[in-house]
Amino acid sequence: MKDKKDHINRKGIILAGGTGSRLAPLTISVSKQLIPIYDKPMIYYPISTLMMAGIREILIICSEYDLESFKKLLNDGKQWGIKFEYAVQKKPEGIAQAFLIAEEFLNGNPCALILGDNLLYGSDLINQLIMVNKNLSNATIFGYQVKDPERYGVINFNENKHVLSIQEKPSNPESHYAVTGLYFYTNKVVDYAKTLKLSSRGEFEITDINNLYLKENNLNVQILGRGIAWFDTGTFDSLQEANIFIKTIENRQGLKVGSPEEISWRFGWIDDKQLLHLGNKLKKSSYGEYLIELLKE
Ligand code: TTP
Repeated sequence: MKDKKDHINRKGIILAGGTGSRLAPLTISVSKQLIPIYDKPMIYYPISTLMMAGIREILIICSEYDLESFKKLLNDGKQWGIKFEYAVQKKPEGIAQAFLIAEEFLNGNPCALILGDNLLYGSDLINQLIMVNKNLSNATIFGYQVKDPERYGVINFNENKHVLSIQEKPSNPESHYAVTGLYFYTNKVVDYAKTLKLSSRGEFEITDINNLYLKENNLNVQILGRGIAWFDTGTFDSLQEANIFIKTIENRQGLKVGSPEEISWRFGWIDDKQLLHLGNKLKKSSYGEYLIELLKE
């Protein structure tokens, strides 16, 4: 796989703050996004998603308390052929606050935001991400059919599948399509975020941003089909389900899901020598062994 994205300057944001209150006591001393999903920290999956889209400059937003832990794990990104910067969200005041925090980092560029607890996996996902990343004139969000839409932003379609509106956590959802935690926006997003008011639950709502794009006729909603798995891993059950899913796929295929080292190497962002170096550092774990084995392909 070659890097096809050199000319595109879309930047990535991973929102990895929050309180993680539904996972207490796990999250009393550790950020939710540092908890493992099977064999790697949760944040490796959203990092991998952005990398698969071709994004190489990523801002990690986290709480002040967790900043050093994220830096210890991820460094400046050079080891994976990418660049990480860090910013603190003092209080979790909503997903859309990410754009206010990231204004300087974005510096007028379009962006992709992914929530630090979102895991996407599936056939052809990589090509879909690469295509969406190339579309710099529209915002793109993804709809996914779920059993419990009332927990999410829900897409309201008319009979021609035209999107009419998006409602945040409605008590009577109009459809079973939830908005996932991966959003591609144009460079207007910071200006839109600046117009938002705190909602009745005290948050700057991402749904308000999506409705602003919709009003401007500039929102592309892509449905992720049943061949794609989307998890948000914020509860004990969803965490356990994601663990089992990743373990099952990895053990069956002998391929890892969500390995930034592997993606970087396959894209040609790091060379064989660097992959060997990274593998050797972890060689007592099956993760490190896997990286070394890749070189025998
Ligand atoms: P949520 O799951 O809505 O919130 P949370 O992580 O604080 O968990 P809980 O509801 O159990 O207290 O957040 C989704 C993701 O977005 C998660 O990765 C945390 C992140 N997030 C922030 O970083 N800052 C915020 O202000 C919000 C609302 C979420």
